[in-house]
Amino acid sequence: MHRRDFNRLFGGVFGGLGGASMRGTHLCSGLLAGAAVASKTATANTEPFPKSALVYDNGDPVTVDSLVPGSSCVFSYPFVTTPCFVLRLKSSAQKTEQWSGGVGDDQSVVAFSAICSHKMSHPAKPISHINFREDAVTFYDKEGKKQEREQMISCCSERSVYDPTQGAAVLSGPAPVPLAAIALDVTDTGQLMAVGSSGIDQYERFLEKFGFRLAMEYGVTDVRARVGEQTVATIAQRFSSQQIRC
Ligand code: FES
Repeated sequence: MHRRDFNRLFGGVFGGLGGASMRGTHLCSGLLAGAAVASKTATANTEPFPKSALVYDNGDPVTVDSLVPGSSCVFSYPFVTTPCFVLRLKSSAQKTEQWSGGVGDDQSVVAFSAICSHKMSHPAKPISHINFREDAVTFYDKEGKKQEREQMISCCSERSVYDPTQGAAVLSGPAPVPLAAIALDVTDTGQLMAVGSSGIDQYERFLEKFGFRLAMEYGVTDVRARVGEQTVATIAQRFSSQQIRC
């Protein structure tokens, strides 16, 4: 079953869900197309979307080494208006039963849809309530115990907390499922490429609900257009003028 059909079918079930450095050589898509892939995170349950190379807004490739540990960038994938996070964690992200872990030599680079699985809060240009937090976030876990953890994705809309070291598993709050994971390949030159999406995504519902505003915000006529061979990654603090922290 196609994931979009799955989402439509189960829409009722989930109806309540509501710069990094600028170094490196310039991208050559011709060379890239033939570049060997050094590592990848696509799994059997990954829905493949067209490959898209991550680049900074000056055109330089986003490589594992160019990402500062503890940093986050926002990029569009698989649609031009669906935001995702790419994170360089300070520790490795080991694979889980449902997720294949991080990429890079130390498995520290991960990517997820930035659309909260609760009510689809997401990074917008003026403001973002969902953010990667390098510093400690305080929350109450499922057993009601107070926790303080660094490197969490925190959605301050209704205080859901996701753990990006564990496939964006939900640690706290009303989010019913993890964030959709974005599968990454790493070329032999170290460049990151988005290649697919796994988990329960919100893309169709998101585009239906926010399409009008997204068209204006991204300056596009077709909010469902797929990203092309390249997608621009912007440091999260610059992507959204205001980041809400809780
Ligand atoms: S939208 Fe409600 S917690 Fe994220």
